[in-house]
Order: sequence, then C-alpha cells, then structure tokens
Amino acid sequence: MFIFKTVKDITAHLEAQRAQGRLIAFVPTMGALHKGHLSLLQAAQQLPALTVCSIFVNPTQFNNATDLEKYPRTTEQDIALLTGAGCDVLFLPTEQEVYPDGKAVKEPYDLGYLETVLEGAYRPGHFQGVAQVVERLLQIVKPHKLYLGQKDFQQVAVLRRMIDTRQLAVQLESVPTTREPDGLAMSSRNRRLTESQRSVAGLIYQCLVSIQSKKGMQPFAVIQKECRELLIHKGFRPDYIELAVADTLELLPDYDPSRKMVALIAAYIGEIRLIDNLVL
Ligand code: PAF
Repeated sequence: MFIFKTVKDITAHLEAQRAQGRLIAFVPTMGALHKGHLSLLQAAQQLPALTVCSIFVNPTQFNNATDLEKYPRTTEQDIALLTGAGCDVLFLPTEQEVYPDGKAVKEPYDLGYLETVLEGAYRPGHFQGVAQVVERLLQIVKPHKLYLGQKDFQQVAVLRRMIDTRQLAVQLESVPTTREPDGLAMSSRNRRLTESQRSVAGLIYQCLVSIQSKKGMQPFAVIQKECRELLIHKGFRPDYIELAVADTLELLPDYDPSRKMVALIAAYIGEIRLIDNLVL
C-alpha cells in the first residue's frame, strides 16, 4: 500500500494512475478503523478500481471539543488493517494539507432542511464541516466513486446534496451498517465505552428493531415512548427517537405505509453519543 501525506504526492500518483485509465474508488475515514470501514473498502474492491482510503480526524465537524480531543487515534493499527485488507493507497494528510487557507468554511453550504433536523439540530455546524472536508478530499482524490456507511444516514443525505449542488462528477455508494453480534452498529466511538456501557449499548438496535417490527400494529408514539423509557431505565440519555421519510428525512408523526421510512436514534451513554438507524 502506498502512503501519501501531501496533496502534491498523492496527486502525482493518482494522475499517473488515471492516465492509464484506472478508475478510483474512495473511502474517506477518520481512522480508528473497524470492520465497518473494511466493509466499505470491500465494496470499493468490487470494482476494477484503485482503492484509496483517507484518514483525517476533521476538526471542523466536531461541535464538542472533548469529543475531538478524545476521538480515538490508532494510526499504526489502521495502516496494518488497510494493508492486510488490500487497500492500494492511503492518504494521511495533516491539517495544513487539508486546509492550507484556514479552516473557516468560506461559503456556507446550502443544506436546507437537512441541517435543521436530527443530527443537524443537535450538532450545529457539524454538517458544514463534513461537507467542507469531503468536498476538499474529493477535489484532491477526484474519485469516480465515493463509499460511505449507511450508519451515518443523514451524513449520506447531506453529502448527496453537496455533490448535487456542487455538480461534482462522483457517484456515491451507501454501504449497509456492520453490526456486533448484539446489534450494536460498529463505530470508532464504541472503543470509548466502558464494559458496563458496552453491555447495554445493543439496546439502541433492539429499539430500532422493535420500531420496525411493530409497524402497522401500534401507533409510533406508543413505541417511541416505550423505547425512550427503556433507554433511560438502562442509563441512556436519548436525544431523539424518530421516524422519517427515508429519501428526505421529513419527520413522520406515525407510520406511513405508502412511503419508505427510516427509524433513527441518537442517545448518550455516559459521555459517548451513539447514533443508529434502520430502514423499515
Ligand atoms: O464518517 C466519517 O468518518 C466522517 O464524517 C467523514 C465522512 C470521513 C468526513 O470526515
């Protein structure tokens, strides 16, 4: 695996590859890699393409300084994992390489409604930072395909919108969530859970499954209340338990069988904030 730390070096390498007609499949990450990330890489490897991963803990998408400071950084292990998984190129830039002109978002992205609901409402500025870094990484890597995890359902919607409005020539693929045996969605933040927090963390997925399985049998408000009480009882502090239209994230007061729906949950356990979702 080639490892590049500067824009200049990765650009030279990728230009040579592109000149030979190679397609580029890109998996952006913030490191602390797990099987979920590797499933994105495996999806990318289905193409006859050069696979490029990036590891960059993007400061502009953290709206909580402690979360940024405590975000796990495991670069040596990440390199070993990516090498073992057959990744072709790793981009490991410094902040200066990503933001040579400073970190401020020059022209705010018009993310519309998406920025006002769910993660947008609870993490002000987060999606501006996500759009900013992904646009910058896309400018550098210029991939044909971009792979993102469905675990961050709203992030996928935001980046689809950013790609559309900026008219970027890249195709976005959303890859299904990888789960632990108890259903917990794989996430870099899971490493920060204590043993007792970890032992209850699968409850978020169980709530999502109960929202799915009770579709059409009970009003959503009843199940939402049950889930909230159960989560609180087990020590969580839920931010939201919502039902939305999958394509637009328009919130729904109740099940609507005529539309493709998604259930989404965000909840703190201790100081760790976990999010997950399930398409119904
Ligand atoms: O999903 C993530 O890990 C990040 O938000 C991303 C897409 C790599 C941007 O920093």
